[in-house]
Amino acid sequence: MNTVKVISRIPNCSMREYYENKVALVTGAASGIGLALCEALLAMNAKVVVMADLNREKLSGEWDRLHSEYPGRVFPVQADVTRQKDVEEMIRKGAECGDGRLDLLFNNAGLGLAKAFDETTDADWDFAFRINFYGALHAIRAVLPIMRAQGGGHIANTASGIGFIPMAYQSMYSATKAALIGLTGSLRYELWDENIRFSAIIPGTVATPIWQGNVPKDAITPAESAHGILKGVAANERIVIITDADRAGARDIYLPEAASAIDELLLDIARRRRSGNIGAL
Ligand code: NAI
Repeated sequence: MNTVKVISRIPNCSMREYYENKVALVTGAASGIGLALCEALLAMNAKVVVMADLNREKLSGEWDRLHSEYPGRVFPVQADVTRQKDVEEMIRKGAECGDGRLDLLFNNAGLGLAKAFDETTDADWDFAFRINFYGALHAIRAVLPIMRAQGGGHIANTASGIGFIPMAYQSMYSATKAALIGLTGSLRYELWDENIRFSAIIPGTVATPIWQGNVPKDAITPAESAHGILKGVAANERIVIITDADRAGARDIYLPEAASAIDELLLDIARRRRSGNIGAL
């Protein structure tokens, strides 16, 4: 019988210890989950938190607030992750804020991209991959030399439950997030022996502006999501899943016994969305 060898996790390291004195960069940091990650990292004594976001106004407002609470430990970088040059510059500036170090990279920026497939163009698909996939890929490329030089690091890529439970009217979102899960899983083992860790994040259904005012009633708060994310990353989990609903989905999606129930659920969502409720869950 084949046995699975258990590979070592980070031994005896509490969540707080994992983040203490670390230099972290978070994309999509001016809102929602990204902002909550920055707040939690600062509260856990990260040495430096670099907040990267496209939205200059929101970034500057949130940075102001956090800077007055944690002076000298938080820095804003305006960057559009769909532009490779911006991403490279973001990583360069981030490492500069950390005196050459970048221990943790949270590729969190992303968009919901809900649209009927018939209405999507190649330009839409190109943009979808640039925001939800290539942004992370380019950031990983740019940060690897820094992490290698310092002897390690941790990269957490925010995917979605929809990356493994694809939903109708979100074909671009489903495809880009599935691709991100694949990239993360592959690199996790390619770079494990260089002490560069990779985790895919499934943050739960979270009450943020991504829902454009239609927040589902079972949504958790950004702070709850961020806490779960940081706990899972500190434990070096391969896929950090925050909610029971996403955990059940991850368990059942490829299970033959659950196939009919999953079909029923996803078909119901498709039909409700077709009847006008595109954000329906
Ligand atoms: P949010 O809308 O609250 O925040 C997203 C942030 O990303 C905004 O500050 C926005 O300015 C920034 N951003 C957008 N385009 C950008 C670009 N091109 N370059 C740099 N920054 C850009 O969204 P939320 O909910 O906090 O989402 C964060 C991540 O979590 C996303 O990747 C999303 O797909 C994922 N996610 C969210 C879920 C939820 O229920 N809120 C569920 C599953 C995944």
